[in-house]
Amino acid sequence: MTRKKLIAGNWKMNETIPEAVVLAQEISNLADPAALDAVDVAVCPPFVDLKPVKTVLEFDRVNIALGAQNVYWEPAGAFTGEISIPMIKEIGCTYCIVGHSERRNLFGETNEGVNLKARALIEAGIAPIVCVGESLSVRDEGVYLDFVTSQVRAAFAGMDAEDAVRAVVAYEPVWAIGTGRTATPEQAEEVCAAIRATLAELFGDDVAQQVRVLYGGSMNEGNAALLLVQPDIDGGLIGGAALKAVSFIEIVKAAR
Ligand code: G3P
Repeated sequence: MTRKKLIAGNWKMNETIPEAVVLAQEISNLADPAALDAVDVAVCPPFVDLKPVKTVLEFDRVNIALGAQNVYWEPAGAFTGEISIPMIKEIGCTYCIVGHSERRNLFGETNEGVNLKARALIEAGIAPIVCVGESLSVRDEGVYLDFVTSQVRAAFAGMDAEDAVRAVVAYEPVWAIGTGRTATPEQAEEVCAAIRATLAELFGDDVAQQVRVLYGGSMNEGNAALLLVQPDIDGGLIGGAALKAVSFIEIVKAAR
């Protein structure tokens, strides 16, 4: 089954407005911007830049979706410092990253929290980009497939097929994030195929064949093509390379 590729930039806690301007202008200046219609593109700036980045992208009328990097599952209340789903929806987000390893490892995000966020986002019509991935020690112990598929099962717990089909999964081996040590196409494909097999077991093959499974972890314009040609890799979740508009666009082109 052919799935439309998704390339999403996770700008993390970085200044993004200038690069968003460059990105919008680079896409506008492409000989055939419509050629990018074959790929879904999203950018995920910090919360404070969501509205300005949206304005920049709308001004240049480029077809780039907006995503948040995190969210809380309650719609409102005494949750100091948190951002709600209605807030990001009002701004125009159609994607939201949940369970990024940096949130799991640095801020104590749990499988249960990822599940609550993913279900609440789907309920609100926003596609969760559910991040899963193993540490180097788990990979070295050879139990990475069990580890990652257990994260998938936890993230999708309590969902039915109609819910699950609206989610995106991003396989991001922790040892590849920000390290320049990208998983080989074979390593990435092995885990992405296992993720899809788990989704098939949980929701049936039809759903599993529709859910997009992305790879993230030092993907760049030099290695994107060999990763994106893998049968179970449907795109990329890009960190460092997304901070350079010209690199990000080359990755988008590689996904066409
Ligand atoms: O969410 C994507 C990010 O974790 C990947 O980062 O810098 O390895 O592309 P990077």
